[in-house]
Amino acid sequence: LPLTPTFDLIFVGFGNVARRAARLLEEMGPRLPFTARTVAIVTGHHGATCENGWPATLPPPATDGSSNAHVVAALAEHHRAAADEGRLICVETTVLDIRAGEPAISHVRAALSGGAHVVTANKGPAAFAYADLAALALSVERQFLFEGAVMDGIPIFNLVRETLPGVRIESFRGVINSTTNHILTMLERGVTFDVALREMQEAGIAEADPMLDVEGWDAAAKTAALMNVLMDARVTPHEITREGVRHVSAKETRAARDHNQRLRLVASAGRSRGTPIGRVQLEKLPADDILARLDGQQNALVLGTDLLGDIAIVQRHGGLTQTAFAIVSDLAKIARQVPLSTLPHRTP
Ligand SMILES: NC(=O)c1ccc[n+]([C@@H]2O[C@H](COP(=O)([O-])OP(=O)(O)OC[C@H]3O[C@@H](n4cnc5c(N)ncnc54)[C@H](OP(=O)(O)O)[C@@H]3O)[C@@H](O)[C@H]2O)c1
Repeated sequence: LPLTPTFDLIFVGFGNVARRAARLLEEMGPRLPFTARTVAIVTGHHGATCENGWPATLPPPATDGSSNAHVVAALAEHHRAAADEGRLICVETTVLDIRAGEPAISHVRAALSGGAHVVTANKGPAAFAYADLAALALSVERQFLFEGAVMDGIPIFNLVRETLPGVRIESFRGVINSTTNHILTMLERGVTFDVALREMQEAGIAEADPMLDVEGWDAAAKTAALMNVLMDARVTPHEITREGVRHVSAKETRAARDHNQRLRLVASAGRSRGTPIGRVQLEKLPADDILARLDGQQNALVLGTDLLGDIAIVQRHGGLTQTAFAIVSDLAKIARQVPLSTLPHRTP
């Protein structure tokens, strides 16, 4: 009987998402089609660590939040045997950088070039450099997976890639930022903007810089990632027309409600004369719209397809466990692609 593969994990970034993912791997243990051990953790300001201390042969990590691509490259080399066997995986969960998606893109590039697969929850790489990174992954025969980057644990990329072969995604519309949806919901209920935002920060759901949520940047990054991956676009978050929720008052949200409408921050994309166009904007939706019915942290995405009409997917319970699960599911996807003949066997 073939045993399951054993992955060696390099965590680049070890905040809310990565810590929850590490715990979830332990909790789910025997339920998973792989085993995993952590061989290194690299952070932005707290240094780095390996199983048995930091080897003198490895360069010291940057501790000012700048790129650690050189450390990722050195770690891949240090774990060459696991990399050659396709068992080395870089789990990239650094903070979203909205200027250019760095240093995450450099981390992903260094890991793939060093023979590691990459699993990330960071939207930056798919939002700014999807085509390049996907091409690199293909050329080195490694996986570049990012299911947790959009809609936490909901398998939106896998849904399309695995289960809708040949189906074209022509448009989408959705509520894909939990923090702003929670704020809009709470404003309707008389809770202040600042209290509602603080609740999301305390739950570890708001971005490290919460203005990225409030000003619509997080939703714009997700919109760009969805367009690049599902609609074969080549956009960055800066090309998405964007609006935030900072200026929305409780009075406005309640006035909409009084007219049987709800104010929601809607991310959408379509094509204009063949060119993909994306936007993030506040919309007054009729109360029976699927997006209007989302409360708090709930998310939903409606995909407009050429063959099957609209397909909607709703996340009723988003959060850290769901995002962590997306990382686990990406690892499981890599495990399923390891040829059985290469795994060690045990006697039945
Ligand atoms: N939280 C969520 O619910 C959620 C959901 C979906 C996707 N995401 C995405 O997942 C990613 C992580 O989110 P999080 O909530 O875990 O963030 P977080 O708690 O702020 O953690 C970020 C981690 O990245 C590290 N880091 C920053 N710069 C680095 C660098 N140059 N090299 C190595 N490590 C670096 C930080 O280290 P220091 O603390 O030492 O600086 C920290 O360990 C983000 O891209 C976010 O957009 C989050």
